[in-house]
Amino acid sequence: MANTIVLGAQWGDEGKGKIIDALAATADVVVRFQGGANAGHTVYVDAERFVFHLLPSGVLRPKVLNLVGNGLVVDVIEVAEEIRELAERGVELTPQRLMLSTGAHVVTPAHRIIDGLLGGKIGTTGRGIGPTYTDKARRRGVRLGSLLDGTFRERVLAVTDAIRAEVEKVHGAEFPAHDGKLEELWAAAEAIRPFVGDVQAALYRKASDDAEILFEGGQGTLLDIDHGTYPFVTSSNTTIGGAYSGSGVFLDFHHRIAVMKAYTTRVGNGPFPTEQDNEIGEHLRARGDEYGATTGRPRRCGWLDLPLLRKAIIINGFNEIALTKLDCLDGIDPIRVAVGRDELDQPVYEELEGWTESVGPATHFDALPAAARAYIGFLERRLGVPVRIVSTGPGRDSQFERALP
Ligand code: IMP
Repeated sequence: MANTIVLGAQWGDEGKGKIIDALAATADVVVRFQGGANAGHTVYVDAERFVFHLLPSGVLRPKVLNLVGNGLVVDVIEVAEEIRELAERGVELTPQRLMLSTGAHVVTPAHRIIDGLLGGKIGTTGRGIGPTYTDKARRRGVRLGSLLDGTFRERVLAVTDAIRAEVEKVHGAEFPAHDGKLEELWAAAEAIRPFVGDVQAALYRKASDDAEILFEGGQGTLLDIDHGTYPFVTSSNTTIGGAYSGSGVFLDFHHRIAVMKAYTTRVGNGPFPTEQDNEIGEHLRARGDEYGATTGRPRRCGWLDLPLLRKAIIINGFNEIALTKLDCLDGIDPIRVAVGRDELDQPVYEELEGWTESVGPATHFDALPAAARAYIGFLERRLGVPVRIVSTGPGRDSQFERALP
């Protein structure tokens, strides 16, 4: 069976959730392998909006086994809440449909507190992601497996004490009491305990049974801790290598799909060469509803940047593109695309003709306006990767696939 990996090619928020949701229709297994509740995947089913922070996007498909790999940092309160909310909306998750790796690390309330105190410089999501990965690397983290061997509470309390001492002694800041949050954590831990298991073994079994497996990346290539715009990055490997370390199973990915917005956005601080801090950027923000799914922050918007996308292709070996939010370019004329850099490292642009009509109603490639087809053809030629999926709106129905040669 064909294995697929879907990764963000830019700074996250490319619309991966929707693409993954569509691909999950035929998948047997959906796997998350890195990040945590900093991700925010939005999927619309009819008029209903679902936002997932931690759960894999396959949870809306009844036949899919959803796996949360060892590479994640899991906010136990958040995941228990997502499971409960889904149940309230009629989606019942059982341990047969969701497994959380014993090796995944726990984001404790203290991790969130310290992220709130110290994460401002680079504009983190404040979800405790960086501090939890830091404690993983310092070998004092708490793994989900401790829920099965009875050491969870003592480990959480030990790391909480260590963080409190650090905040007070090193940073001279006050560490707030949060007993209520800890009580919430103990209750949430009980609720998720049945879901904790050996994800590596489960995935390997499925792979050996020839199941169709879909890996779902969080964030985007340019936020990768190694390959992104360091230090304005997240704390995990968001690129293809993270899929292996974060799940513990080697798979040959036949489809390596770059989810690429038809323009560029970024939340948080850091370089953004093609940013349009002007009416074009404002237009894209309004048109694309460019506000963070996790934090609600307005996203910075700008033109597509081919040099950065080429880098993403080198890192991930992308062989297909899912182009999203093409409809947000409706009415912009001309459209600019950065094709290189000048001697001062500033973007060099090419201008392409825009289109006045809406791409929304198109259900196949030939139904797109000629200028939209030309835009896609231009990207394919310049990037050397075919555009297999085109998304023209937020709903499940507003996207189509092209047959690739
Ligand atoms: P952290 O992941 O919360 O540590 O934040 C580090 C950087 O990654 C910040 O610039 C965040 O805005 C950015 N970031 C984290 N998750 C996402 C995401 O899902 N989409 C877009 N940006 C993200």
